[in-house]
Parts: sequence; structure tokens; C-alpha cells
Amino acid sequence: MIDSTSSGRSNATRRFSGNAGLHRLCAQAEGVPVRETVARLLVLLMALCCVVPGSGADWQAFSWSMVAPGVWKAEVGTPERVGLLNAAGAEPRTGALETMGAAAFPIDAVATRFIEINGRVSLRFPLGSEEEIYGLGLDFNRVRQTGTIQTLHVDHWGGTSGRTHAPVPFYVSNRGYGVFVNSARYLKVYVGTGLRTDSAAPPPVLDRNRDRNWDPNPRGDSVEVLVPAAGAEIYVFAGPTALESVRRFNLFCGGGCLPPKWGLGFTHRTPTLYTDEQLKAEVDEFERRGFPLDFVGLEPGWHSGSYPCTFEWDKDRFPDPVRFVSEMKERRIRLNLWMNPYVAPASSLYAKLKPWSGSHEVWNGLVPDYLLPEPKAIFSEHLDRELVSIGVSGFKIDEVDGFDSWLWPDVATFPSGVDSEQMRQVYGVLMQRMTTEVFRKRNERTYGLVRASNGGAVRFPYVIYNDHYSHQDFITALCNSSFSGLLWTPEVRGSGSGEEWLRRMQSVCFSPMAMLNAWSSGTKPWSFPEVEAEVHAVTSLRMRLLPYLYTTFAQYHFEGAPPVRAMPLVDGYGRFGDVGGAQPGELGAAHRAALRADPKDQFMLGDSLLVAPMFAGQTERQVVLPQGRWYSFYTGEFVGAGEVVTVRPGLETIPVLVRDGGIVPLIPARTHAPKAGEILPLEIRHYGRAEGDFDLYDDDGETWDYERGEFSWTRFEVRRNNAGGLTGQMTSAPAGKPFQYTNVSWRFMTPP
Ligand code: GAL
Repeated sequence: MIDSTSSGRSNATRRFSGNAGLHRLCAQAEGVPVRETVARLLVLLMALCCVVPGSGADWQAFSWSMVAPGVWKAEVGTPERVGLLNAAGAEPRTGALETMGAAAFPIDAVATRFIEINGRVSLRFPLGSEEEIYGLGLDFNRVRQTGTIQTLHVDHWGGTSGRTHAPVPFYVSNRGYGVFVNSARYLKVYVGTGLRTDSAAPPPVLDRNRDRNWDPNPRGDSVEVLVPAAGAEIYVFAGPTALESVRRFNLFCGGGCLPPKWGLGFTHRTPTLYTDEQLKAEVDEFERRGFPLDFVGLEPGWHSGSYPCTFEWDKDRFPDPVRFVSEMKERRIRLNLWMNPYVAPASSLYAKLKPWSGSHEVWNGLVPDYLLPEPKAIFSEHLDRELVSIGVSGFKIDEVDGFDSWLWPDVATFPSGVDSEQMRQVYGVLMQRMTTEVFRKRNERTYGLVRASNGGAVRFPYVIYNDHYSHQDFITALCNSSFSGLLWTPEVRGSGSGEEWLRRMQSVCFSPMAMLNAWSSGTKPWSFPEVEAEVHAVTSLRMRLLPYLYTTFAQYHFEGAPPVRAMPLVDGYGRFGDVGGAQPGELGAAHRAALRADPKDQFMLGDSLLVAPMFAGQTERQVVLPQGRWYSFYTGEFVGAGEVVTVRPGLETIPVLVRDGGIVPLIPARTHAPKAGEILPLEIRHYGRAEGDFDLYDDDGETWDYERGEFSWTRFEVRRNNAGGLTGQMTSAPAGKPFQYTNVSWRFMTPP
């Protein structure tokens, strides 16, 4: 990444030498030399011969070395050549990390220990008695992970087991640090559940016969991780806040993705066997009804054969793909094509990829080994020639996650020598990396969907989705995604009622991808006429918020701050009162209950907006407001200050609150995201009584030129004037840099 040094918001440009090791590993991921494998087997054999049965090895201290400001690394045992970071090709954004500044090692280093035993390693990190742990990848059930046992294993969705689409081995503590295990293995994590005999602070021993407080799950003093391999790299990320540790993790992995502007508009996926004519008619209908639409998803029917896939157009349904794609593009509709990666015998790719594929097939399709450069080149060239060069803008990469029976088995082998377990943990990441590169080479941005990811993939412009379809669980996943460098969409498919339809549409419009996935339902945004106007209103609001959303994603890229933020990442969460703050003893029952509850049904979108989705059947809900004063996004009225409030919005409204001093930039409602060079008027809204600042990001919205410095940050400031009122002021955008706005108008939403 050329612009890995700075966001342009600071002058830091020094390079950090700790990069070199990672670059080396990235280079190695491309192939697996046989020589090294043999050497490692010999070392392992020698080690095995030295083990004295029963003697037990000793727990050893980690040897931490700083590899970037606030980031430490330790190697335990013999780390494997393919880990998560090199599979993803992660390159730290060193300048941005330097801007964050140095920090002290955030945990008790003496209490970080590991042991090598029988070819595996166990890791141990301290866990305080009041400490809470978050993260460990996408989770549909809970945000707080303290007290859980998980097997981090790529899968479709495995309840609370740890099997999930993105089992990222990175956890974040409310004490403001993070720990990452760079291993592409099925890791077992015990979050304060193991009771050690050598614990310095063991839980009290209670007698179940006598003591009503007896606890079936007494709390241990460690987070323990079993790595079923001879070694791993471990990283620790300093805060001082939980958000800052997430930022350092994201920046270390390359910074978050920056989608094209059109990617943040509205997207609709059409029924699986639609033809080009049906698709055009659907686009006509969106236009006729004035509904926003930026990109359309074609499901399996665009392939001449699917499950496994041919990656070639079906000429009955799409007789002239070149004309079709370019006609759509002229109408400002981008196309996103579904695929699973398994190559059908009928595909022209089959013979070319067969020598580079694994020992087992999925749906009778080849599983190419994309750790090797040759199959990568063959597949990338095909995608580029057949699809991207004619104007296709993105892909949906399905079925890379599992359900065990829809994937290769754990006995499969691959030509690179990587085993099936490692391949399963990184296959979704490899697909994201390869497809992103195809677009990058053409200097076109993409934004797509994927069903499996893992640590290190934060820079890839892909959003995770699945078939589970519980609205509540989808919001939990949205919160969780923010700890692990992931994006998630609570996609809308169908609904039992207009009320549910609207509630789901409202949620998806405040998520990383505003998507209606009608692949099997055939639904349209207007499918429930009784709420058509309200659905139109919220999709239009999404379009109006594009400058805010785009800036929020720029923060993800340049500063590592996730666009959606779970409440434990939010400043002032868990502290009550206005600015002074109530003492815990003063808290009422609602406050105490709110603090105990898992914070999984509300989140921040960017710096200023607190979103509290409503579910069908609800007419009111509680919102836990972090410390400070909060205002209604819609009216600017005061709602509460560091307290638990009950809101009763009508069906037409999703509760959205703004921080005191929050500034939100909007454009007029429109049906397509702005294209490169298109200049739009800007409304700057200010909320509350406090002064505030907002740095608005902009670039051409379509190319990767921002990596070469082609972007601008423009500051909007609200200050109190001599008369006691509030005045807004804009600093001028850097000359010669993209800034696609004009006619700035200010709107002070909160009455004086
Ligand atoms: C599923 C996927 C759906 C849809 C469908 C097409 O695996 O989750 O979104 O794409 O395949 O067959």
C-alpha cells in the first residue's frame, strides 16, 4: 500500500522497521517449499525423542518485542509458515500506528506464559476478576465473551460453539488492550473458564449442599488458548481504550477497507434464475418508483452451471453479457456476481486448475489451492477477461464457510502442502484477496459479499452475510463484527408482516451494506404496500447520509476505527450522568440492570450516531446512553444524559441519537451515489449545545487513487460566538485535491 504512512490528517511519515518480518512472511505464503517441510519434520522428530514421559515441560515466559507503536509480538514454539496475517497479505499502516503513539505494555507480562506439549502449545494470559472480554470473531448470540469456551472454526454458524463465518482469534478487554493469535488452526479458547491450581486469586470454594451462592461456573484467572500446532505468533495491542486497541489491530492488518461510494448506496439481489430482460425490468421499476439503487446482485443463474460453478455466462439467460453490463453501467447500475469457488467439470477452467487443486471436491467441483501463484493467476486472469474487463463491479463469494458436508473434509490435502484445517481457516480470506487484486490492478474499487473471513482481512472490501435470518441475532452480529475487523450486513429477504419488513429495512440502512437479498423470495422494497412510503424514506435517508458514512469508512481505513462500534468500544459507555457522572451507588435499578445486560442491541455508527434498532412487535425499547447529553437525530430535541431512557418511536422511525456537539453532513436525497467528479450541495447539521468538529473525507469515490494521496479532509467547526449562540465554519479543502461538494448550508438542529 503506497499510502500506508498517513491519513493526511497528520505529518507522521516515518517507517517502522518491524515491518520486515511480516513482509518476509507475506512472501513465503505464496508457496510452501518441500525442503522446509522436511526440515521441520526432522526438528519435530528430534523434539519428540527428547520428551521424557511424565517429566512435563515448564511453562515459559513469552518474549515480547515491540513491532510497532503499541504493538508487541512474541513467537512460541515453531510458528507455522502459513498464518492468518500472511494468508491475508497484511501490511501494517505504519504511519497511522506511529500517529497513535507509543504505549506501555498493557498487561502483566509475567503472567503471560506458554507451554509446548506433545506438538501443541497452550497459551495463558491474565484475566482480572472484574475484567470483560469481547471479540473472537462474528457471534450471533452474545457480545460479552467472558466465561465462554470456544473452538474458533470457520463454519456457517454454530450457535455458541465458536464455529462461525469469521472466527477471528483476536480478543479485546474492557481494560483497554487486545490479544491476537496469528494461527490458521482450529483454536480452543477458554475465557476465564479454566481453574488453575497455581492461581494467585482462585474463586472461593463453595459447597453445593449448603451454599445457595454455589456457582456451577466459577471464574478462572486466565484466558487460555490451545493451539493444535507446534507454534504460533502472538500479538498484543495496547489501548489505552478498547477502541484504541481495536484501531491498532486494524491498522496493523492494513487498515479497514474503503468501499466505493456506490457500494454504500442501496443494493438489490434478484431471483436466482432471472434473465437480463427480467433484471432490466426490475431496474426500470426501481426508477419508476424512485427507489435508490446502486448495484444489483445476480445469483447462481448467471453461470451456465452452478454448484459447482462454470464462471461463464449462461447464454440463454444472458445472450449478450457485454452489452448488458455496459447498458446497466450507463444507467448507473453496477453488477455484482454470485459465485462459489468450486470449479465445474463443464468450465473451461477445469482442466487448467485440476493440477493445482485439492484431493477432494465440493459438489463435484475442484477446490483450487490459492496459496499457490499458478492457480491464482489462472483464475484471476479468467475473472478479469470474462467479467471485470466488461464492467462487472464485484462478487459475492458464497459457500466458503462450511456446514461440514458442504466443504472438503479435514482429511483433504492440497498441493501447497498446507493441510485442510489451515485451508478451511483461510479460504474465504484467499478469495477476498485474489478478487480484490483483480479490481485493484484496474484501479477500480469493488465492494462485495463473502461468507467466510478471518483475522487480517480487514482491508478487503467484503461484507459477511448468512442464511440464519433472525433480526435480533443479526444486530448482535453487527455489534460483534466491530471488535474483529469485520463487516456484517443484516440483509433483508422476506418478512411475515409489513411491520417486520420495515423494521428490518431500517436496520439494514444503518449497516455497512444496505441490501435486499431477494434471491429466493423475489421481494422488492415495495413488496409491503402498507409501508412502502416508510421504506422509501429510510432508503432515501441512507443516501442522504452518504457523506457521513463515507467519512466513517475513511476513518476505518486511515485510522482503524470500525464504522459500526459495539457499545463497549464507545467512550462514556457504562458511565452515567451528564459530564460530572453519577457514582455507582447512585444508580437506579434500571441502570444497574443495563450495565449487567449484554450490550448487543444498540451500537454507534461512526463517531456521532447511536442506533437502537426496533424489532417487530416492539413499540418501545430501552436505550443505554453513554455519559454526556444525547439528542434525537430527527428533531434535535434533548433525549437524555448518561442514563437509560425508554423510547417510543412510531413504526416509521428507527431510534437514532446524536452526541452533544455531533456534526452530521448530508446530501439531498437521490437514487444513485455520487459518481467521480459529481458535485453536490452539502447540509451540515449540528446537534446539542456543545461546540464540535467534524473532518469530512472525500475523494473520487471510485478508484484507488486515494492510496496515492488523492483525497481531502475538510474540517467543519462549530464554536460559541460572542452573543452566546453557535456558529459554523468550514476550513477550505486542500487545493487540487478531490472535494465534491458545494453550497454548504448549516442547520442547527437543537433549539437554543
Ligand atoms: C446461499 C446464500 C444465499 C444465496 C443462495 C443462492 O448459500 O446464502 O444468499 O446466494 O446461496 O443459491
